[in-house]
Amino acid sequence: MPGVYHQLLDATIGHLESLKQRGVRYVDASPESLSRLARPTAQKTTAAPLGQVAPKVISQRPDEPGVYDSPKLSAADKESAMAKLRDEALACTQCGHLVATRTQVVFGVGTVHADLVLVGEAPGLDEDKEGEPFVGAAGQLLTKIIEATGLDRDKVYIANILKCRPDTPGKVYGNRKPRPEEMETCFPWVKRQIEIIQPKVMVALGGTAVEGLLGKMPSGITRLRGNWQEYRGVPVMPTFHPSYLLRNQSWVIKRHVWEDMMQVMERLNMPISEKQRGYFQRR
Ligand code: URA
Repeated sequence: MPGVYHQLLDATIGHLESLKQRGVRYVDASPESLSRLARPTAQKTTAAPLGQVAPKVISQRPDEPGVYDSPKLSAADKESAMAKLRDEALACTQCGHLVATRTQVVFGVGTVHADLVLVGEAPGLDEDKEGEPFVGAAGQLLTKIIEATGLDRDKVYIANILKCRPDTPGKVYGNRKPRPEEMETCFPWVKRQIEIIQPKVMVALGGTAVEGLLGKMPSGITRLRGNWQEYRGVPVMPTFHPSYLLRNQSWVIKRHVWEDMMQVMERLNMPISEKQRGYFQRR
């Protein structure tokens, strides 16, 4: 299975590059593992090639009408619907434990006229302080990724599955993954945001965003990324979360995210220059 072999080789190289970045110079590897890595394996596998034909997610919200089924709102109506929704969300008190620890609700940022909506996980410390999604280190990286496509942060819409920072009892710093019941409670906000915007394309940043939008993940984000999914008729591109990119500085991972973004650009009929096509290519 050369496809699988090359994906595994990529993942191994990515892992080794990230170890190297962190100053690791030696790794333990058995002669058998090294010889297996040296050639494509003829072993049969039932796994789909990574990043190629991962199983398509069956939406776990099948009874809901498509996002494009409701009449498209005028520009002014979109703006007033989003402003009203924002006011309601800012006053939300459904999760008492999060209300008790949040500085503010982090609703969303960007334009309601966006063709592209990017969905993340939940606000972190910086976002909780600023009241805006993706303003910390991961956010700065996300902004660079958006700008690399030729778009600006204010030409897209950015939101999270959770609107309040997950509490971390006893700790000031650090983040935790949102719990399923928190995601379920908060989901109606992002759902309405998407219905108002009716974007042409969405990007799900990381596994939690995919899970929040589509229901249970059929496989991990590593297999799912790069494969179009659908949220009630809206094409969704799953990709790695920018925080993962910050932790894992490998070219392979950066290239994967960039390839996912180029698929998004193609879907939006955006031009892609030769220079852009070459970003993060191994030299
Ligand atoms: N990570 C997220 O998923 N969302 C943010 O707003 C910030 C970091």
